[in-house]
Amino acid sequence: MKNNPIGVFDSGVGGLNVLNKCAELLSHEKFIYLADEANMPYGNKPPEDIKLAATACAERLFSLGCKALVIACNTATVTAIDGIRALYPSRIVIGLEPAVKPCYRELGKMGYAVALVTAATYRSTKFNRLLQSCEGKIKPLVYADLARNIEQNVDNIQALKPKLFEALGSYRDAEAVILGCSHYTYVKDIISEFYDGNVKIYDGAEGAAARLKYCLELSGLLSQETAEHPPVTFLSTFKK
Ligand code: DGL
Repeated sequence: MKNNPIGVFDSGVGGLNVLNKCAELLSHEKFIYLADEANMPYGNKPPEDIKLAATACAERLFSLGCKALVIACNTATVTAIDGIRALYPSRIVIGLEPAVKPCYRELGKMGYAVALVTAATYRSTKFNRLLQSCEGKIKPLVYADLARNIEQNVDNIQALKPKLFEALGSYRDAEAVILGCSHYTYVKDIISEFYDGNVKIYDGAEGAAARLKYCLELSGLLSQETAEHPPVTFLSTFKK
């Protein structure tokens, strides 16, 4: 089991950043990355559809022998992680939650942060619970098609600048921005440019990678192999 791969999935390319962070931290591990392109975007779907899609990804990765699972998607995590953990109680299942808590802890007394999230994350109980503990200092911003636009413009990301600048227009004085969807890492530089570099940007990827390492260590499941570069197998729901 120790040398089995770690499964990572997202609705598309968003989770690749999470995969990178995991691979950097766990250079002896093998990974299988599953992009659920057939069901992208998760963020515009009702919870039941997201649960079905995310559970199917988990089933596929565990059936391929994965020793642990990383849900590299905020939307799938806040909607489906409890159900997936209930189905696989003895497996390591790591999620990616919007980094609301670390951001709130580090905010200045008067400042506030914008949490850029998908519509499904915005509606979820988990995200709303997170917000409730932050005295209104984390303002949610839903940009409905941003993840899909990123997926379609991944080679021409600057094309998204005008719309993104417009969406952030009412939050010019924010102190921090939370990337509440793994796809939004691709527009991090555009967000930074909007704030002339004077904004702290939070992304949950590093935290998820650290948590994965901690859980593997705790369970004695760290790989014993000595690969210099972690091999990754890429799968998509379009290529069954
Ligand atoms: N990347 C996913 C997330 O982190 C969602 C993108 C989508 O809407 O499919 O929320």
